[in-house]
Amino acid sequence: AVFLTVFTLVLDFMKRRRKWSRYPPGPTSLPFIGTMLSVDFQNPHLSFNKLQKKFGNVFNLQNCWTNMVVLNGYKAVKEALVHRSEDFADRPYMPVYEQLGYGSKFPGIVMARYGHVWKELRRFTLSTLRNFGMGKKSLEERVKEEAGFLCSEISSEEGRPFDLRFLVNNAVCNVICTTIYGKRFDYGDETFKKLLHLFEEFLKEETGFLTQLLNVVPTLLHIPGLLQKVFRGQKEFMDFTDMFVHKHMETWNPAYTRDFTDEFLKEMKKGKAAEESGFNYNNLRLVTTDLFGAGTETTSTTLRWAVLYMILHPEIQSKVQAEIDKVIGRERSPTMEDQVSMPYTNAVIHEVQRCGDVVPIGVPHRTYRDTELQGFFIPKGTTIITNLSSVLKDETVWEKPNEFYPEHFLDTNGKFVKPEAFLPFSAGRRVCLGEQLARMELFIFFTTLLQKFTFVLPEDQPRPREDGHFAFISSPHPYLVRAIPR
Ligand code: HEM
Repeated sequence: AVFLTVFTLVLDFMKRRRKWSRYPPGPTSLPFIGTMLSVDFQNPHLSFNKLQKKFGNVFNLQNCWTNMVVLNGYKAVKEALVHRSEDFADRPYMPVYEQLGYGSKFPGIVMARYGHVWKELRRFTLSTLRNFGMGKKSLEERVKEEAGFLCSEISSEEGRPFDLRFLVNNAVCNVICTTIYGKRFDYGDETFKKLLHLFEEFLKEETGFLTQLLNVVPTLLHIPGLLQKVFRGQKEFMDFTDMFVHKHMETWNPAYTRDFTDEFLKEMKKGKAAEESGFNYNNLRLVTTDLFGAGTETTSTTLRWAVLYMILHPEIQSKVQAEIDKVIGRERSPTMEDQVSMPYTNAVIHEVQRCGDVVPIGVPHRTYRDTELQGFFIPKGTTIITNLSSVLKDETVWEKPNEFYPEHFLDTNGKFVKPEAFLPFSAGRRVCLGEQLARMELFIFFTTLLQKFTFVLPEDQPRPREDGHFAFISSPHPYLVRAIPR
């Protein structure tokens, strides 16, 4: 039996390593583990940068059984995501999602396979969020209100050194709660604290080593009880959010839609065949979990990078504050309309996103059909890694790719300009669904914070590190800050 198993595995492995002509080059692949030794999984984007130097902008890797192609630099990433958008629009098959049982066939949006269910859910989610406020006054008002709460919490620190992480997470998570459940929570609220705690556990699980291992070696899923153990946090988070959905169901009134959950329930009640349409209860849980997952850590981490860059570059902070004072003053709250009159602040926020590089290797794609890229052949079903970091730091595009330099987004007259290689939200069919909301949050939170406070490094603290800590998202190493009221 052992011989047969090994023989089958070797055969399967060889089959997947079929030699295609014009397949991208890559490091030597070893039996079973493939090219895994060529990548430092703590910092994959840094390994990719090294491999890019050796093999060029398009190279192949083999993660155990999975054939992968990594795209580097603006040209290759743009060609794939924009010019051959549909060819690259699929997501890799993640066996753990299917095994989890809930919403197995149509797992939410982020990891959903390319097809009509994903299209329908994406269209629905975009238009619902837009109508509820994305880009509209009402959500902007909520973000402004939340920025006010965040500032009062920061004031209560009275200039003492503190870690921003907790407060910023609360504020950003509240924006998602408002969108999905129509309500915000006080930061000390026990339900909110539990929600945040469970969510943190869930994120740890999702980016953990074991989850990744189960996805590349799905045979391990047959070990009894392993899946339940690995996904305890995710299950607890989703069970907890059921409470909010049940409350909505009890008080649901078709004539009056309060939020995203209500709108989804309305679609479910239309009675489309739930399995076919994706509008079923399991998927409501998965889509809302996706919005939490994709919409909180990304935005709050970017804001922590923003404050970090301000304490490291006090002269830039002063210039932003001078622009805020000139355009908005000290009393009125910032609004999105101010953005066009604030090129410097806008440039600084873009540079925070470029340098902070919070989603360095994007979300994996998969080829939907056989395709060509930069003269290479890439077969259907190949996992595609878009090395967004290599685009945001592409030496052929940016004047000072590895420095914090807001002038990347300003022309010689001080007017705001956005180079096409600014792709922190990716591009094409799978481009970040929350880009508009994220932009609004970044502008309102950042300008409100700098209108009210000057951020400084506490005297006894070492200069914080500028490199990121990678766990799918690249976040600043923990640092303390003092917020001096202005
Ligand atoms: C996907 C970045 C905020 C919802 C993505 C992707 C990136 C990204 C790089 C992968 C795109 C691809 O596959 O090529 C960011 C950044 C954010 C942010 C940098 C903040 C600064 C948000 C927010 C929301 C959100 C606030 C929700 C309200 C999503 C969803 C997807 C996604 C649902 C999956 C889209 C799909 O597969 O069709 N985001 N995101 N994101 N993002 Fe964001």
